[in-house]
Amino acid sequence: MIKSEIKENSPVLIGILGAGQLAKMLALEAYKLGMNVATIDGSANTPAGDMTSNEFVNGWNDEGELDSFIEKADIITLENEFIDPKILAYIERSKVVYPSSKTISLIQDKFIQKNTFKNAGINVPNYAEINSIEDAKSFGKKFGFPFLLKARKFSYDGYGNYTVKNEEDAEKGFLHFNPDNSGERPLYAEQFVNFKKELAVMVVRSSKNEVLTYPCVETIQKNHICHEVIAPAEIEAKYQKQAQELAVKCVEAIDGVGVFGIEMFIDEDNKILVNEIAPRPHNSGHYTIEACYTSQYENGLRAILGLPLGSTEMVNNYAVMINLLGEREGSGVPSNVLDLLKRNKVKLHLYNKKSSRVGRKMGHITLIGNDLEEIRKEANLAFESLIW
Ligand SMILES: Nc1ncnc2c1ncn2[C@@H]1O[C@H](COP(=O)(O)OP(=O)(O)OP(=O)(O)O)[C@@H](O)[C@H]1O
Ligand SMILES: [Mg+2]
Repeated sequence: MIKSEIKENSPVLIGILGAGQLAKMLALEAYKLGMNVATIDGSANTPAGDMTSNEFVNGWNDEGELDSFIEKADIITLENEFIDPKILAYIERSKVVYPSSKTISLIQDKFIQKNTFKNAGINVPNYAEINSIEDAKSFGKKFGFPFLLKARKFSYDGYGNYTVKNEEDAEKGFLHFNPDNSGERPLYAEQFVNFKKELAVMVVRSSKNEVLTYPCVETIQKNHICHEVIAPAEIEAKYQKQAQELAVKCVEAIDGVGVFGIEMFIDEDNKILVNEIAPRPHNSGHYTIEACYTSQYENGLRAILGLPLGSTEMVNNYAVMINLLGEREGSGVPSNVLDLLKRNKVKLHLYNKKSSRVGRKMGHITLIGNDLEEIRKEANLAFESLIW
């Protein structure tokens, strides 16, 4: 098929690489706009696959399956950054894909991502490639302990991070990723940032080069996983603006089209450093579904289709989002949803995952309002009322 622009008067079928909760929320917005979706993932019974008859369950590494998926879709996007850029390049031969293979190849490997940003003049924590226990030890000597050892690829929810506390720990950390000391699993090290807050900004950039930012939010992590998001972050207006400008710079540095989440730190001296970018809708932007005129999902679709972007402004003063993580093995539905629903301003999102496990993202709740203290309290009470 010929690479083509989406025509204004015909229904569009969005192909989504992946079928988890981000794909589900993207699909919900696509349906609202009169579009259809196709999903491709390695299994059936997924949050987004369940929503469509155009479900491809053999994964994108199965060439026949991938070809059928490509054939079906008018335009293709993704819900995670783990897909091989070579597969994206293969798709680009016949259909438009955003974010592009080029964008993903600049960020999939977090060490390359750091280089990309540093070369664009963006502040990042000190970092270095680590190929041996010796490398890890000398990083600590140079930049101090603790520092972080990170897997360069395929990590999420902090699973690829190890905090190195001292010189002995450097060896332990290296062997944690490479038990046979082979160095086969590529690593890099990052200086520990004594941050005051963690921040995030969603940026939407369209194929027509229209760029908008959402408010800068604060993200609060527990065990390296996002627990709570406060929108907007309680920081001075000038730092809000700086964070937004920095986030746009990141997206431009990777020539990104679509929606992007940029994670940052603000340190004790109010210096803002970029942690990483997610080339897709992001946890820290879930709140935009209820709290903004146009959600990150809707704007992500508009962006890839080259449509005018919708307002990213908030409809109320504040929003709070709390992630619902699995606390046990078992059913994907919490047992006492009724108690939560009685708190009738709480917006509940359950992802329809077929089973829960400890730490798995099962859903989230959002509260919007004009009194931050009040909605934060209510969100936390609702969160505590749920039993998995
Ligand atoms: N250099 C650092 N200094 C201090 N804390 C850090 C640093 N890097 C990461 N962290 C902490 O670990 C968390 C997860 O790290 P990171 O974002 O690199 O991992 P991830 O696996 O991509 O996680 P996620 O999927 O949640 O974004 C950060 O949000 C932060 O709380
Ligand atoms: Mg992160």
